[in-house]
Amino acid sequence: MERLQKVMAHCGVASRRKSEELIQAGRVTVNGKKVTELGVKVNPSDKIEVDGVPIYQEQPVYYLFYKPKNVISAVSDDKDRPVVNDYFTRVPERIFPVGRLDYDTSGLLLMTNDGEFANLLTHPKHEIDKVYVAKVKGIATKEALKPLRNGIRIEGRKTAPARFKVLSTDHRKGTSVVELIIHEGRNHQVKNMLSVVGFPVMKLKREKVGTLDLIGLNPGDYRELTKKEVSQLYVLANKE
Ligand code: URA
Repeated sequence: MERLQKVMAHCGVASRRKSEELIQAGRVTVNGKKVTELGVKVNPSDKIEVDGVPIYQEQPVYYLFYKPKNVISAVSDDKDRPVVNDYFTRVPERIFPVGRLDYDTSGLLLMTNDGEFANLLTHPKHEIDKVYVAKVKGIATKEALKPLRNGIRIEGRKTAPARFKVLSTDHRKGTSVVELIIHEGRNHQVKNMLSVVGFPVMKLKREKVGTLDLIGLNPGDYRELTKKEVSQLYVLANKE
């Protein structure tokens, strides 16, 4: 048995808070009876409706996906370009990506049908580290990347302090490979940060999210998260 608002959030109806508001507003019924209190628990066979529309109770599922480059982090695309859900045709649950990676970025992307989990993980205040490896134009040095440590201004807002390492430099080609660890998820954040300090990104891969990595997977592969991994992510996200 789970709390009604938690089940609603899992099903992607709304966040847990919004689901509570829907319940209190008298818009939710369980097995035909209006529920307005927040303590009610339901099981998977209960029929839940919001404004008379049934919601389908799926068990929450969690996948770790190695997104190849040139794939859109979306469930579908109106221009028929490849999307991440194309790789999950054998998964019956209605899963979606947790946050996004750019079309040309490869790497670790979580997929789930659990809206609450997705909100928790993508909220910057939860500070889950994400490790990126970028191939950049130019010879990167510690000194040149230093401003990233304190945060830099992008579109009028300062980024949170980041950690970085220069992994290699190729003086002949004039390129470098840089590891950057951030916990925010603003649009094109890594590309923007590196370009502001003078190193335009040529290639980008996300190697880690929290304690998860891509070991054993090739681009396009996925695996289910273990129960332990899911609860570790909840623990990481809930630390304030
Ligand atoms: N930062 C970017 O610039 N792109 C991504 O895909 C992810 C982080």
